[in-house]
Amino acid sequence: MEIKKIGVIGIGSMGNGIAQVAAEAGFDVIVQDINDEIIAAGMKNIQRMIRIAIRFKRILPEEKDNVLARIKTTTSLDDFSDVDLVIEAAPEIVELKKSIFEKLDSVCPDETIFATNTSSLSVVEIGTSTNRQDRFLGLHFFNPPTETQLVEVIRTLLTSDESFDAAFETVKSFKKTPIEAKDTPGFIVNRLMVLFLNEGARMAEEGLASPQDIDKAWKLATGMPKGPCEMIDMIGVDVATHVGDSLYNEFRERLFHCPPILHQMRRAGLLGKKSGKGFYNYSK
Ligand SMILES: NC(=O)c1ccc[n+]([C@@H]2O[C@H](COP(=O)([O-])OP(=O)(O)OC[C@H]3O[C@@H](n4cnc5c(N)ncnc54)[C@H](O)[C@@H]3O)[C@@H](O)[C@H]2O)c1
Repeated sequence: MEIKKIGVIGIGSMGNGIAQVAAEAGFDVIVQDINDEIIAAGMKNIQRMIRIAIRFKRILPEEKDNVLARIKTTTSLDDFSDVDLVIEAAPEIVELKKSIFEKLDSVCPDETIFATNTSSLSVVEIGTSTNRQDRFLGLHFFNPPTETQLVEVIRTLLTSDESFDAAFETVKSFKKTPIEAKDTPGFIVNRLMVLFLNEGARMAEEGLASPQDIDKAWKLATGMPKGPCEMIDMIGVDVATHVGDSLYNEFRERLFHCPPILHQMRRAGLLGKKSGKGFYNYSK
């Protein structure tokens, strides 16, 4: 099936990047979030990221207005009645995601494909709130979606070949690289990543070295752009603990278990970049 119009749920860290990527690729996009202030902040972020894209010559300056014009916003899911694909990037709470898709199931045409950007929840379980498990799958983008190349395309036991292929091809038209993965916790990348992030946080908790030195040592040794503590701050402590917990719950592997420091930070609201403070202070 041909995808022309894409609906994005949530204009937070991931949703605004996904909307931008789709608009840059020429799709009409509508983004929904819960209130006008959040939408205004998300659109401001998209404008900032477009300026960066122009600086890095990914977008021509004359394309800027066209990309922005392709992105419409709304606070109502009722405006999703003509979308061909929904990509949901709401908070990582299974009941919330299920209720959003339940509503969308009654609003969207039967052919519309539903995708969740969940990092750690069961895709098929979220899909149980709909009557279209054959058109339900995962599209797992990485942070920030505008700069990262990979999208994991998650096929559940119930996803049809037709909808999987349509989603896979759409990712290619975003100029991203799709990789097929099964509906297991962490998919491919986060299953590996959790071990790295947990161990970095554990070392900081033990006082083996400061978060700054742990990150610096890793970057100097490997040439990688970020160390584990910086990565946790970028991903969000809430998201990182969710992923670790769900992997631990499924596999009961001790190394997936998040160190207490991460849960303490989450409860204290020290979520990283998005809250202004995590291992690092972003208030300036
Ligand atoms: N942050 C990452 O690095 C990352 C990477 C890959 C996948 N993910 C996944 O993407 C999803 C979103 O994560 P995020 O980091 O963008 O979160 P976020 O908190 O930055 O953004 C979530 C957005 O959803 C909005 N929202 C809340 N309730 C809503 C509702 N009922 N309807 C519509 N919008 C609602 C919020 O206002 C917010 O703007 C999660 O499932 C997360 O696991 C995150």
